[in-house]
Amino acid sequence: MKFIIAITILALVIINNSEAKVFTKCEFARTMLNAGFSKASLPNWVCLVKAESSFNSRLRGPKNPNGSHDYGIFQINDKYWCKVGSKGGDCNMNCNSFIDDNISDDIACTKIIYKRHGYNAWYGWKNKCQGSLAAYQVNECF
Ligand SMILES: *[C@@H]1O[C@H](CO)[C@@H](O)[C@H](O)[C@H]1NC(C)=O
Ligand SMILES: *[C@@H]1O[C@H](CO)[C@@H](O)[C@H](O)[C@H]1NC(C)=O
Repeated sequence: MKFIIAITILALVIINNSEAKVFTKCEFARTMLNAGFSKASLPNWVCLVKAESSFNSRLRGPKNPNGSHDYGIFQINDKYWCKVGSKGGDCNMNCNSFIDDNISDDIACTKIIYKRHGYNAWYGWKNKCQGSLAAYQVNECF
């Protein structure tokens, strides 16, 4: 009996570890504010990340039609910005480092992408957020 309980607990720990880390809206908003983004910009980022990954920091997207993949909470594309298996791309980062729970490297790369293209770099933002941010206010988070 003890053995079975131990195995069950072990199994639950393993299952739990492989589960997606899904940020709450406010957890994400606070992380972005701490990383230097303005409060006024946060509804854009909250909407963008909801559209791209539903706040799942471990998401590796399905294969895009052109064969590329998108990584992490911001769904950063491996064609330009990062490389799979070693550092590379314009962010000089390993895409696999974008699918853990620590999003500080994702944010660093996102700053580079945003500097170059603005929010338009993300289809999720263009399709779902541009001009309709009312549902993504974050005042209750602070
Ligand atoms: C490939 O597709 C992704 C997603 O549709 C897009 O973000 C990326 O810019 C495309 N890359 C090229 C080289 O066309
Ligand atoms: C997250 O990763 C950065 C480096 O990318 C590191 O400096 C920082 O300490 C990490 N934070 C945690 C909580 O592990």
